Amino acid sequence: MERLEGYEVIGGTKIRGTVRISGAKNAVLPMLAATLLVDRPCEIIDAPDLRDVTVMTQILERLGAKVVVGRDQEGKRTLTVDAGDLWTHEVPDSLMRQMRSSIFLMGPLLGRMGKVRVSYPGGCAIGPRPIDLHLSSLQALGVRIEERGGYIDASTGGLRGTEIHLDFPSVGATENTMMAAVTARGITVIRNAAKEPEIVDLQNFLNAVGAKIRGAGLDVIRIEGTHSLGGARHQAIPDRIETGTFMAAACITGGEVLMDNCIQEHVEAAIAKLQEAGAEIEEAGDHQLHVAGPSRVRAVDFKTLPYPGFPTDMQPQVMSLMTLGLGTSVITETIFENRFNQAEELKRMGANVKTEGRTAVIKGVNRLFGATVAASDLRSGAALVLAGLAAEGRTVVEGCHHIDRGYEGLESKLSLLGARVRRIPVNGS
Ligand code: EPZ
Repeated sequence: MERLEGYEVIGGTKIRGTVRISGAKNAVLPMLAATLLVDRPCEIIDAPDLRDVTVMTQILERLGAKVVVGRDQEGKRTLTVDAGDLWTHEVPDSLMRQMRSSIFLMGPLLGRMGKVRVSYPGGCAIGPRPIDLHLSSLQALGVRIEERGGYIDASTGGLRGTEIHLDFPSVGATENTMMAAVTARGITVIRNAAKEPEIVDLQNFLNAVGAKIRGAGLDVIRIEGTHSLGGARHQAIPDRIETGTFMAAACITGGEVLMDNCIQEHVEAAIAKLQEAGAEIEEAGDHQLHVAGPSRVRAVDFKTLPYPGFPTDMQPQVMSLMTLGLGTSVITETIFENRFNQAEELKRMGANVKTEGRTAVIKGVNRLFGATVAASDLRSGAALVLAGLAAEGRTVVEGCHHIDRGYEGLESKLSLLGARVRRIPVNGS
């Protein structure tokens, strides 16, 4: 049982300085899965040192791949995966349960081995997280799916291209279908595809290994099946949610931050919303964004939507910001059923938040007070750290392991910006 740790945050400091944004977890995870399609070494550059990424590399190794961690000549962390010799199609249950996104191992394993066994995925506490869209797309590509005893056994006598229309632009289902279609016979067209930047990055990686994919980032993605795949090197895009999280941190403390390794286009919705709340955000140079928070943010309303709408993964962080806003903010969470876990914890810090189903109403207060609060998923955990930065006194956010899933060295990055944040052991509650 890993030692339970929390973040101790002493509030009241305006953060100031420069921070480098890490490579995107949600781009690297599907790319790692995609390396299983290729029997030559692939190198992924700027892979963040995060728990979810480690779990994915452990799964690849249990399947028979060799994974080597390294640094490139600029010091970026690299993962080189050699999946030349896979010895099983069964994804280990213990690892599968730790991370829901491992479901998109089905596509590459079906493409490479013609079969895969996975258990129903685990994941964070933000809703039931069904996988019906994944399974129906794979069935349309010629996959037989059997579900029994908590396991899914999938096999195919040969994947064949087809037209697929996703009921919802699911990120994972789009990625799974893309990867399964890479070696399918003929053409696959995915309609109502997710348009997130991570989908485009996956397309670019797959095309680098020899796939023939067009259209990622738009509603319709077209994949022409091929079997001639080879190794490749590919640098992951920066993490747009980490970028947004640091913008929110500058806003909630009234500080200012220069963020290095950003792609402004990927965070336009968050930038627009934070500017509406009073932040000054502008491009500062090559792949750099500068953000200056106001002395007090104005309350703003927003609804989370599929990309390019306001990202659900930024909703908890901006809710924290709104607890100190001037006025009343109405937030609607349209992507996940249960993504207001941070609300009850913020109320312990003196916030005025009322939630009803997918809607939260936040009445701004003049100050928050430090308290002991609990993270229940990676983004609500980050949101509570942000609230602690602005609260009076000492806040302990229990459940670092949730935050470690999505943020590489959050405490050291915040400390370098002048925040008073450190990890402390907490007695397991
Ligand atoms: C990806 O999850 C991200 N994870 C999530 O980030 C992110 O919140 C989410 O996309 C939405 O942007 C990774 O990329 C590893 P979805 P995913 O399939 O693929 C429903 C984080 O914070 N749905 O787009 O699981 C589902 O229940 C994580 O880094 C079905 O109904 O998201 C949810 O309500 C959290 N059936 C909605 O769609 C399905 O078969 C969005 O899910 C699949 C999904």
